[in-house]
Amino acid sequence: MIVGIGCDVVDHMSGKLLKWETDITILKRLLSSTEIKLFNSYKRNKIRFVAGRFAGKEAVLKCLGTGMQDGISLTEIKIIQTSNGQPSVKLSGEVQKIANLLKINTWHISITHSRSTSIAFAIAENNK
Ligand SMILES: CC(C)(COP(=O)(O)OP(=O)(O)OC[C@H]1O[C@@H](n2cnc3c(N)ncnc32)[C@H](O)[C@@H]1OP(=O)(O)O)[C@@H](O)C(=O)NCCC(=O)NCCS
Repeated sequence: MIVGIGCDVVDHMSGKLLKWETDITILKRLLSSTEIKLFNSYKRNKIRFVAGRFAGKEAVLKCLGTGMQDGISLTEIKIIQTSNGQPSVKLSGEVQKIANLLKINTWHISITHSRSTSIAFAIAENNK
């Protein structure tokens, strides 16, 4: 059963203005250490990487029906990937607790980029 869906679009210009690529303090607020490792090895446009993950995290929050409330950190939503590049979602902390309350046990996520934006679409599922 589908429990929630969410989508989000992120403009690359905002990332450039906020210096996502070079400001490690900001990067650490957006990305977990696992994602920062992926960011460091990402061969394409780095703003695109961060924008895609940011859009993905916002899409996941929309599935949960919550926004950036107190106690929720974006680093609790990890968008990791398989060896062929397919993204997947891994939660921890408060976000995982909300997902547990909603009985979500499976996540689906897709990310795409244009030259100037990144878009993500997520589906939260209870498949038991
Ligand atoms: C997946 C694929 C169709 C992407 O299409 P595209 O039009 O070039 O690019 P898009 O902007 O629409 O999508 C890119 C996103 O697709 C996702 N993606 C990459 N590989 C994927 C896969 N195998 N399955 C699902 N999603 C994938 C990623 O989230 C990527 O974003 P990222 O670069 O920020 O991680 C293309 O990369 C492809 O054919 N991949 C097949 C696997 C492959 O050859 N991998 C090469 C690396 S080993």
